[in-house]
Amino acid sequence: MYILRITNKKRITNTDASAKLTNMSKPIIILGIESSCDDTAAAVIKDGKLLSNIIATQNVHKAYGGVVPELASRAHQQNIIPVVDQALKQAGVKMNEISAVAFTRGPGLMGSLLVGTSFAKAFALGLDVPLIEVNHMQGHILAHFITESDEEQVSKDNENTKNKTPSFPFLCLTVSGGHTQIVLVKDFFEMQIIGETIDDAAGEAFDKAAKIMGIPYPGGPLIDQYAKEGNSKVFSFSKPKVPELNFSFSGLKTGFMNFINNETAKNPNFVEENKADICASIQQTIIDILMDKLKLAATQTNISHIAISGGVSANSGLRSTLNQFAKQVGWQVFIPKMQYCTDNAAMIAITGYYKYLKQDFTTQATTPLPRYALD
Ligand code: KG4
Ligand code: ZN
Repeated sequence: MYILRITNKKRITNTDASAKLTNMSKPIIILGIESSCDDTAAAVIKDGKLLSNIIATQNVHKAYGGVVPELASRAHQQNIIPVVDQALKQAGVKMNEISAVAFTRGPGLMGSLLVGTSFAKAFALGLDVPLIEVNHMQGHILAHFITESDEEQVSKDNENTKNKTPSFPFLCLTVSGGHTQIVLVKDFFEMQIIGETIDDAAGEAFDKAAKIMGIPYPGGPLIDQYAKEGNSKVFSFSKPKVPELNFSFSGLKTGFMNFINNETAKNPNFVEENKADICASIQQTIIDILMDKLKLAATQTNISHIAISGGVSANSGLRSTLNQFAKQVGWQVFIPKMQYCTDNAAMIAITGYYKYLKQDFTTQATTPLPRYALD
């Protein structure tokens, strides 16, 4: 009863929030909170420009070879206040200057999302400012619109791209630890998934291949490092046959596991002796699978503005393969800076900013959505 009474009293409705927008001469300052998996992050965006972007990565999972949900929520609980504190300090923003609090509502781990959601709700309630819910996958895509305060957002990797940010419509290959999607992005809010994985995500394929080789979690960045020294043509792995724009990575994982088991039965040092070549070969296979579908999507939609996002878009092989192919066929490609590929709160804050401009607010009744569809 007590909680309900407080909730109703302080609940920010769209009408209340619109009233707060009347003084538009005040800067719009969005605090973004991200806690969907194993990174606790907070960022501050002022009038669309990033002022701070703080991330606490949870190293506790390394010993377990993957994210342990229970440990993730505990670590979020420990990290969230210092991370937000640091984001505000670095931005030089006082709490009473915040216009709205944006948070990741999902998709993600329930226990992890609960920490960020509860924190954002309490913070917005305490400050009496609007609350904005953000879909994490939309955040990954809108990471392309993050503008830094002192410079325009242009990645040096976008060699043949004239524009700084993609113009609508564009295609975005969103590749992370939990998702692999090709999204037709019609505007900031209208997004259609035109292809996705039917089983594992690309990031999972990297992490599972790493685990099979005894490389610690998260294996994706380490495979990327080893692959730089290796030859991708030494070993070959069969690619899945999945219709249309969908992906599958579970068969590749099984094939890879059988290959490693067979080879180590013959030579126990096989992985150590061939690590760079194995990493380069499995990485290139994953990249080829992604590129094949991206090419098909570009042909089917007749769209040549192509973006990538999510943790796997940090992969140097994918970045260079995409850039090279784009040069050949005249695609304009958009590749986020490294710090905006993997989970971060700047992408949540920028999405929150665009939602704020639309006055798209949520209420204190909101709850996390571990399965939150993008379209
Ligand atoms: O977007 P993200 O940080 O979190 C999720 O929303 O899942 O993505 C994490 C995934 C992990 O699977 C990680 O291994 C992978 O992105 N990843 C990479 C690289 N950096 C992160 N995979 C390949 N190469 C990288 N450089
Ligand atoms: Zn993510």
